[in-house]
Amino acid sequence: MQDKINEILDYTKAKLEEIDSTAECQALRVDVLGKSGKITALFRFMKEVPPAEKGKVGQMLNNGKIEAERLISAKETFLEQAELEKEINSAEKIDITLPIKGCKGSLHPRTIIQKQIEDVFVSMGFVVEDGNEVETEYNNFIAVNVPENHPARDMQDTFWLNNGQVLKTHTSAAQNRILKKYTPPIRAVFPGRCFRNEDVDASHENTFFQLEGVIVDKDVSVGNLIYFMKEMLSKIFKKEVEVRLRPGFFPFTEPSFEMDVRCPFCDGKGCPTCKNGGWIELCPCGMIHPNVLRHGGIDPEQYSGCAFGLGLDRMVMLSLGIHDIRELNSGNLKLLSQFKLDI
Ligand code: DAH
Repeated sequence: MQDKINEILDYTKAKLEEIDSTAECQALRVDVLGKSGKITALFRFMKEVPPAEKGKVGQMLNNGKIEAERLISAKETFLEQAELEKEINSAEKIDITLPIKGCKGSLHPRTIIQKQIEDVFVSMGFVVEDGNEVETEYNNFIAVNVPENHPARDMQDTFWLNNGQVLKTHTSAAQNRILKKYTPPIRAVFPGRCFRNEDVDASHENTFFQLEGVIVDKDVSVGNLIYFMKEMLSKIFKKEVEVRLRPGFFPFTEPSFEMDVRCPFCDGKGCPTCKNGGWIELCPCGMIHPNVLRHGGIDPEQYSGCAFGLGLDRMVMLSLGIHDIRELNSGNLKLLSQFKLDI
């Protein structure tokens, strides 16, 4: 039996000498170790082996099988590496600048709603600005009137970086740069990804999106704030909406408000979306605090401003009927790819 096994192992070695592709390795594996392979065939003789010898012969066969597999695998690993290197070094050159052909994709629902909101604001004379995700402590806190050790910092569980910077906790972090970039009158919206060290559940994410806006001009009033927000919400919900203000607190606005919208799904009669309250809390806002204007190089004696910070994820969930914020970051294409851009 050992001779027969050695014969097959020699055959395997000889074949491996000639082979130069992983596909051929696989074919040889079938030839030697497959269901009707050469070694497998030897196992059939086991029933003819006298009982006393069975253990020894069985051992021999098993060792032969293991050795054959080892020989084939070693060559296969070697060839795999060689094929990979060849692919990297030569053949496959992809031109990533070419236009996408025949690619079926869809925009993320958050991108869709963000674009819709941006378009409404642009139509009302706003510019769309960008913000950084890694921010200085100054921009994220100090410039928006949240000095060191201010208790308001506790409202935003912050990811601090080793170099003293932060992952921006709110889009308000872009306010200072925008106030410095433009001279009044200023109308700007700035969407962005924000980060807070939150416990994640159906309505909280550690990574979420806001869309913030500022208006700075002579004699800006709460009336302007209400007007622009009503216009925007009416366009997004495709019907005239009603809003109301409740007192709120934010260090960067004085006075501060919470803006609610009368539930656009039940017209305020009460439904699961508004938890039967008839109103949906949507947008913290207020009149920009004089200190924030000063940090931005704007004289609060001459100019006033209002600001709002829309929870973009919440807007997306509301307008599309998504109930769990975690879906938005999930990459669940079944859910996320069914929304289409209709403006
Ligand atoms: N930055 C606030 C937050 O993330 C939201 C906010 C409130 C933004 C009031 C504003 C504002 O511009 O006026 O909690």
